[in-house]
Amino acid sequence: MNVDLGNALETTPGLTEETLERLDSRVEAAHHRIATGMANDEFGYAALNLPETTDPEAIRAATDRFDRPEAVLTVGIGGSALGAATLANALESDVDAHFLDNVDPDAVDALLADLPLEDTVVNVVSKSGTTAETLANFLVVREAMADAGVDWTERTLVTTGQAGNLRALADEHDLPAIDVPDGVPGRFSVLSTVGLAVPALQGHDIEAVLAGGRDGMESLSESLFETPAYAYGAATYALAERGALTNAVMPYAESLETFAEWFAQLWAESLGKDGLGQTPARALGATDQHSQLQLYRAGPPDKLVSLIRPTERSATPIPETDLDGLAYLGGSSLADLLDAEFEATEASLAAAGVPNLRVEIDRVDERSLGELLYAMEAACVLYGELASVSTFTQPAVEWGKKAARGLLGGGDFEEADAVADKRELR
Ligand code: PA5
Repeated sequence: MNVDLGNALETTPGLTEETLERLDSRVEAAHHRIATGMANDEFGYAALNLPETTDPEAIRAATDRFDRPEAVLTVGIGGSALGAATLANALESDVDAHFLDNVDPDAVDALLADLPLEDTVVNVVSKSGTTAETLANFLVVREAMADAGVDWTERTLVTTGQAGNLRALADEHDLPAIDVPDGVPGRFSVLSTVGLAVPALQGHDIEAVLAGGRDGMESLSESLFETPAYAYGAATYALAERGALTNAVMPYAESLETFAEWFAQLWAESLGKDGLGQTPARALGATDQHSQLQLYRAGPPDKLVSLIRPTERSATPIPETDLDGLAYLGGSSLADLLDAEFEATEASLAAAGVPNLRVEIDRVDERSLGELLYAMEAACVLYGELASVSTFTQPAVEWGKKAARGLLGGGDFEEADAVADKRELR
């Protein structure tokens, strides 16, 4: 993986070589903190050990009991769904992957009506085992399966922590269950059982995903100049300090569209604390060159753009034509055009003084994805260290979870009382 900071130099907001040199001594100290956290398997930092601590055999032992299904339906939300969705949507498979995260009844009904339930594996994922959306959706799915005459206990895989309602349900029905590792917050769990069960069910090489993660792990060093993940984390942090409060993440590959969603969760939930943080925006190249790019180039100078691409992709030649004005396209390929669009966007942003960072992976395959996902997690942890925020907690998210449960009578939570008081005022 390669990170190029060149287009963030001398821009507005911007960095200079001297800023980066000065920042590097803080990166060194932050790296030591991160390495200590990893060595002690401390909460959160343990996620950066996953490429070595995740046992792919244990995942396969749980997934191999299902004959290759037609579809996998993951019921989970946030960090319990987005990592698997990123891998599933990036990699081709003849096993369809679906994700039920929201509790929009229309969407749930439509999905269940379309699924071949008799040949679907239901993968229910919740670290806490108490998340209302996930458990409610699972109850709905379970009933739909029973109504369709499918023995849901034979088609369900559970991934959860040691306690919670989901664990109790798995125990009661003797469902196959895999453990969420200790010390790993949901949004950092893609390289664990949480993120890898779906690709295993789809027939992907999960060992290669972990090998990519190990590539990222081995590249961690004391210097941002030697570590692509730290170059990205340090540059985004320094740009935010200088006013780049939005980070528009723009992959130039449709297969990486869900990666931008995963990144948005990682960045927002980890770094949005104490009045600090950087708002992630999601865009897709080249499509959003024809929409959002106008704002990124000419709007308020409070943004940076992260441009991400694979350096290898299938070519798909553009057929020759002698149509007036179009001959220039013939003989090149869609890949050439997409790469030209990528470089044009970079140059156009740089010409307008808008900082942009280039992130390149070799290709969209298991190993490169593992490396990219690991690098962004390490970048996020570094950013959190530099900003002195509590990267691995999510009090605002927990507040909403408790309030919603309490409002439905699922417990006595003061957060729910606050909402109930507001309801009364209306
Ligand atoms: O990153 C996080 O901690 C959250 O996004 C959680 O993953 C999400 O709220 C789901 O939680 P759980 O896995 O406990 O159902």
